Amino acid sequence: MFSSRLPAALQANALSRAVSRARREGRAFLDLTLSNPTRAGITYPEGWLLALSAPGAAIYEPQPLGLPAAREAIAADYARRGVEIPPEHIAVTSSTSEAYSLLFKLLCNPCAESVLIPAPSYPLFEHLTALDGVRTGSYALDYHGRWYMDLQSVDRQWTQETRALLAVSPNNPTGSILTTGELDDIDGRCASREAALILDEVFADYPLDEEGRPIRNTGSGPARAALTFRLGGLSKSVALPQVKLGWIAVEGPAHLVSAAVERLELLCDTYLSVSTPVQLAASALIASGARTRELVHSRVRENYHRLGSLAGEYPSVNVLHADGGWSGVMRIPARASEEEIVLQLLEEDAVLVHPGFFFDFPQEAYLVISLLPEPDVFREGVHRVLERVDA
Ligand SMILES: Cc1ncc(COP(=O)(O)O)c(C=O)c1O
Repeated sequence: MFSSRLPAALQANALSRAVSRARREGRAFLDLTLSNPTRAGITYPEGWLLALSAPGAAIYEPQPLGLPAAREAIAADYARRGVEIPPEHIAVTSSTSEAYSLLFKLLCNPCAESVLIPAPSYPLFEHLTALDGVRTGSYALDYHGRWYMDLQSVDRQWTQETRALLAVSPNNPTGSILTTGELDDIDGRCASREAALILDEVFADYPLDEEGRPIRNTGSGPARAALTFRLGGLSKSVALPQVKLGWIAVEGPAHLVSAAVERLELLCDTYLSVSTPVQLAASALIASGARTRELVHSRVRENYHRLGSLAGEYPSVNVLHADGGWSGVMRIPARASEEEIVLQLLEEDAVLVHPGFFFDFPQEAYLVISLLPEPDVFREGVHRVLERVDA
């Protein structure tokens, strides 16, 4: 009866079942998977919601790619990061997830064509692609003290049907930022093979290693050889996932950019999914969100350093280097399967972490923890994890 875009079996995994059971039984635990900034004890600017009640919001004037006010505000925010993108090359979306869906419809014929996605990376890609009938190939990120793109695996996975390469910088959860060389290499490959580059930069405002790879590595737009789609959104840039505003910024050779923007306009016109109040509020939300971004940035930076110093006392645990983002990754002794370890941590130590296999790490055992929790929760949670996993 139902489409095969959806999984045949819908039952929750063992960790989700254990979390539901703990909640049902009223057993409290420290949540080191928290990815929702509105639940992380971050102070938001007073009255920020008022921006959503601008008088102009009473009038509906549908514009498929978004109201000029929103597109200009987003272009100005790119300029803050040193990236020049004209507002006409920006399409607003209700989220980055929706942006992916639009791009898959723009680029891929259903059930035939594919995109290359990184591994390890964000688990939602599997669902986002499946829901649009898009196939995937997966290329590897390898860790050698830092994460590097395995370009040979990109070439191995590339087929006649590959329509786009998807790169996330900083990546979730590895935190890796593309180097200039990597970006040039994938740009060249995409251009010469008539595929697009999709660059997810939702965490671009959150470097963790100030002396490491500069985030602006991903900012050399005008030189792009490939048709490139940069993705971003307020959910991370100003920590407002609930207001639902994301975007696609199109770069690359002029004829491809205009052909892509025209088609995106048709796609967006079909859904008109972004509300007028949020579009009119975009400029004010971005401006008032600068302080929130600073608070989130300090939180994740401090927790990342805290993680390193806490784990320093446990020789069998290795905290992997992260260039940016909201996650920390630990390599731990594989004394049991990752699933057994995270279940034991929840049941016996009352601390919730994610196993590496959720993110497609190449082998076991890795744990992924969010850098967002409040410092006391983070410190105690990490302490419990380290005590449990140290060999
Ligand atoms: C790499 C990456 N891209 C996109 C998203 C989704 O962002 P949005 O809330 O704008 O859909 C996330 C959410 O965590 C993410 O980690």
